[in-house]
Amino acid sequence: MKLYICEICGDAYIGEEKPTDCPFCGARGNFIKSANEAEPIAEIKAEISELSKNNLLETLGLETKANATYLCMAGQAKDYQIIKMYKRLARVELEHAIIVTKLLKIAMPEIKLEECFGEDIKNFKKTIELEDHAVELYKKFAKEAQETHVRKFFGAIMQAEAGHIELIRNYL
Ligand SMILES: [Fe+2]
Ligand SMILES: [Fe+2]
Repeated sequence: MKLYICEICGDAYIGEEKPTDCPFCGARGNFIKSANEAEPIAEIKAEISELSKNNLLETLGLETKANATYLCMAGQAKDYQIIKMYKRLARVELEHAIIVTKLLKIAMPEIKLEECFGEDIKNFKKTIELEDHAVELYKKFAKEAQETHVRKFFGAIMQAEAGHIELIRNYL
């Protein structure tokens, strides 16, 4: 057994081999390193520009909204598999929100309830809309980030959200 650390969320993973994607934040395997080599982005002590701070705050809003929306969708789903999927998606988005609070050194805001549909198919379409929007925004934020670690964060979560779109497309 070996200990691995995800440089994006900073969480540790114990296993024989490193996972292809982080089970917590969904970052690709290239961000997961042996524990002794990992440099988690939240540990990097570097100033963050006003522009990146604002972009991170907007991200926090998006991620907490996605978390609450997916919990609503999990609550509406009848199929066990869909319930499990939305619960996992909600956890991943919460993880993204937690990373932002660590980067900005702020407390997690109160997460308000969000609405969703009673039918899975409508929720799948809404999920794709939310994720598409996030991918576009994070692509822009990654370009705007002057700080290496902030750019790395946006690049990693952009890939994670794109993966969510791929996952949902399997059900459409
Ligand atoms: Fe991670
Ligand atoms: Fe996310």
